[in-house]
Amino acid sequence: MAGPPALLVLLLVVAAAAESGRTTATPDGCAAPADSGSTLRVLHAFGPCSPFHSPSASWEDTILDLLSRDDSRFLYLASLATARRSFVPIASGRQLLQTPTYIVRARLGSPPQSLLLAVDTSSDVAWLPCSGCAGCSPSSDAPPFDTSRSTTYRPVPCGSQPCSQVPNPTCPAGAKACGFNLTYGSSSLLAVLSQDSLSLATDVVPGYTFGCLQKAAGPAVPPHGLLGLGRGPLSFISQTKNLYASTFSYCLPSFKSLNFSGTLRLGPAGQPKSIKTTPLRSSPRRSSLYFVDLVGIRVGRKVVDIPPAAIAFDASTGAGTIFDSGTMFTRLVAPAYAAVRDEFRRRVRGAGDVTSLGGFDTCYAGPINPPAITFLFAGMNVTLPADNYLIHSTAGSLTCLAMAAAPDNVNSVLNVIASMQQMNHRVYFDVANGRLGVARELCTV
Ligand SMILES: *[C@@H]1O[C@H](CO)[C@@H](O)[C@H](O)[C@H]1NC(C)=O
Ligand SMILES: *[C@@H]1O[C@H](CO)[C@@H](O)[C@H](O)[C@H]1NC(C)=O
Ligand SMILES: *[C@@H]1O[C@H](CO)[C@@H](O)[C@H](O)[C@H]1NC(C)=O
Repeated sequence: MAGPPALLVLLLVVAAAAESGRTTATPDGCAAPADSGSTLRVLHAFGPCSPFHSPSASWEDTILDLLSRDDSRFLYLASLATARRSFVPIASGRQLLQTPTYIVRARLGSPPQSLLLAVDTSSDVAWLPCSGCAGCSPSSDAPPFDTSRSTTYRPVPCGSQPCSQVPNPTCPAGAKACGFNLTYGSSSLLAVLSQDSLSLATDVVPGYTFGCLQKAAGPAVPPHGLLGLGRGPLSFISQTKNLYASTFSYCLPSFKSLNFSGTLRLGPAGQPKSIKTTPLRSSPRRSSLYFVDLVGIRVGRKVVDIPPAAIAFDASTGAGTIFDSGTMFTRLVAPAYAAVRDEFRRRVRGAGDVTSLGGFDTCYAGPINPPAITFLFAGMNVTLPADNYLIHSTAGSLTCLAMAAAPDNVNSVLNVIASMQQMNHRVYFDVANGRLGVARELCTV
């Protein structure tokens, strides 16, 4: 049943917001188009059509919440450099500290059961709540996976090869299934390493390996699972190498988008033929991550003065710049951010006093005429439309530069090109040919 490589996969992507795990009813007009052919729709987590949307949260609260999630995520990304293993462990606690921003609808088992999986380019995790899980927080939008109703489900035995790739496997004497523990914030979780048939649109991935959650203790267990699009051996991309040739692309719609209008495309078919690309880099210190060579940043016509060490790629330390779908706002190491911000402020001088909002330190109360911001990658310059680096309050009165310095408690040289800066672009991950492409594409309706 595996589709020909020409298939596009239509994914339904929603964003995850509800810390409580509670969800709201799907509003009218939000019916998701059926998966068909090869194109899946994408919606931002905080969009009105997301099952995780919280209608009561104000814009400011939402932004501050997003930014604080980014802090935890940054810690996770930074922590990868210190991992002893050369791959990201499946479902390590720190990976789950962040609530990912985009979710795909997938089907698992035989007969297939629907579920929501967060798309995360920096994670190899495959993790989802299973029925009978004590302490999980299922919802009607994201019910747990019922293993007993699937004829193709099987636990992965202790001593098997996938079990050896899990950190801290628990295989007490007599245990048949490979279990492992993880933490999620202050929650601790127990999962059984499992395999079953995963379907995305019309494609089937038999024997897909994931962690089936059995036990959760503590608050804030998300109702959805995780689909890791990272580069490690247990990631979705590695597990589907034969089907998708390590190739995918996405277009993330604006988080204000009302509908499921973005797309995730798996496999080489239907990918852009002519697209600007830059070489992909990989670091054994952070082997899951998609590194690129950022060589400079232009604000208006000026290439700002950034110390080379702040942006240089270094495979041996894991320093450099990554593209990440799970961080909301671009983070630059402090000297790089300061250079961009200072030039930005200089260019909008006259627009009134600079104020701040949460972690954003460059906000204006009135309208501004912003300079263009261009990321200069090796062989590829990407000039962002203002929508990719300015956020406006719902009332329209406050405009902020939507980037920030990396948290200063992280001793780590890592710049993250985040989802806000990628929205309404096709971002193309051609791992087989070692390149990443970016092209403008409107996918917000
Ligand atoms: C969302 O898309 C569906 C299907 O394409 C359409 O029927 C619906 O009216 C749209 N809703 C909004 C709010 O745009
Ligand atoms: C994992 O969790 C189980 C059950 O909660 C516990 O018995 C076991 O000791 C834990 N193992 C590790 C390595 O923490
Ligand atoms: C990118 O921009 C820089 C600075 O403006 C310029 O020197 C360089 O030639 C450009 N590179 C490409 C690939 O267009």
